[in-house]
Amino acid sequence: MENKIKVSVFDREELSKTLVENYLKDVENIEKVSKFDDFAPEKLDFSSNELQIIIVDIPAKSRKLLDDIQKVSALHKNLKFILISYDLSTNLIVDSLRSGAKDFLPKPLIKKDLIGAIEKIQEREEFEKNRKKIAKIITVYSNKGGIGKTTLAVNLAREIAENAKEKVLLLDLNMHLGDVTAFLDINPSYDMGYYVENLHKITADFIYSTLKQYKTSDFLVLADSPYRRPSYNISNEDILKLIDKLKEFFSYIVIDTNSNIDERNTEIFNLSDYIFFMTVANLPTLRNCERSINAFSGVKNLKDKMRIILNRYIQSEGLSIEDIENVLQQKIYWKIPNNYFTTVEAINKGKTISEFSPESNIAENFKQLARTIISKI
Ligand SMILES: Nc1ncnc2c1ncn2[C@@H]1O[C@H](COP(=O)(O)OP(=O)(O)O)[C@@H](O)[C@H]1O
Ligand SMILES: [Mg+2]
Repeated sequence: MENKIKVSVFDREELSKTLVENYLKDVENIEKVSKFDDFAPEKLDFSSNELQIIIVDIPAKSRKLLDDIQKVSALHKNLKFILISYDLSTNLIVDSLRSGAKDFLPKPLIKKDLIGAIEKIQEREEFEKNRKKIAKIITVYSNKGGIGKTTLAVNLAREIAENAKEKVLLLDLNMHLGDVTAFLDINPSYDMGYYVENLHKITADFIYSTLKQYKTSDFLVLADSPYRRPSYNISNEDILKLIDKLKEFFSYIVIDTNSNIDERNTEIFNLSDYIFFMTVANLPTLRNCERSINAFSGVKNLKDKMRIILNRYIQSEGLSIEDIENVLQQKIYWKIPNNYFTTVEAINKGKTISEFSPESNIAENFKQLARTIISKI
């Protein structure tokens, strides 16, 4: 276990300090709380670079105090401030958060809020520490809609996060027409446009406070909200820069693409480690798939990156695997069983397949695919 986290509380009110002390008494990995009256930078412990939580009471009219906090938090990134106050005016809250504090909580403090705020800070720290820096990119593509791209992208991303215990980002490049938000029943507050506009601000903290986490802090989603106006016209260059930046913070990025054969998807394929061409076992779709592979022949190392995924596969029906491979002139990499009821019901419930029906053949299939990928890249 790592070192225990040091917590200091600055508050004139005895009761408030005692509350903090009591709330944190039994929390694992937290050291005994140090208590002080008025905040002053010289009372802080600058002797180590370990994470420390500093809780400060902010009375009304506290410009000087917030200035001090801002200076300290800018210089000492390991000191994370949680500000508390009876004054809940918007001005004070906004100024508090601008000072670099990680959270603002109303007084009298509630145990759940305080512990939640500290846990959030710890999670962000972990995220920052664990980041592998350069994510592997897995892009799911088919030049037809309705083939199962979103189903695969969503469930694969979730299974990789779950099985690798690594940070995974699911990126919906269908922009405001995307289905990822519906599949996971989420309504993101920040969209691709916001990320492109704030490219230079992207840090682990920024990602954590803006992206949707789906059930766990390992699985994050960047997708446009279906309810707001489409984000402004994002250029290919912007998208590439954005992905390049996001790669620093995740171990895997799974991309749900649109069906176009165009410059944008060519660029996305260029930067992908794996490109999953999805198809199903009927002749028109297979022929289409074959043509789209040829159309992307200019992509760097296409043959090495490309994997054919056969969706909705029923062993006893129609074309044999050999027939399919002959049409495509490619080997099939993975077969996903046909299971309409489970996929549709999971979507209707806004859940991943493994959550909706963990025992189903298709949940098992996605888990095995994720594990295969984890072991290879
Ligand atoms: N393996 C499968 N078995 C049965 N139905 C599936 C399977 N994969 C996807 N589907 C269904 O096909 C439809 C289209 O899937 P979707 O993932 O939205 O495709 P795309 O993103 O390519 O348009 C959905 O109704 C989904 O439930
Ligand atoms: Mg889709």
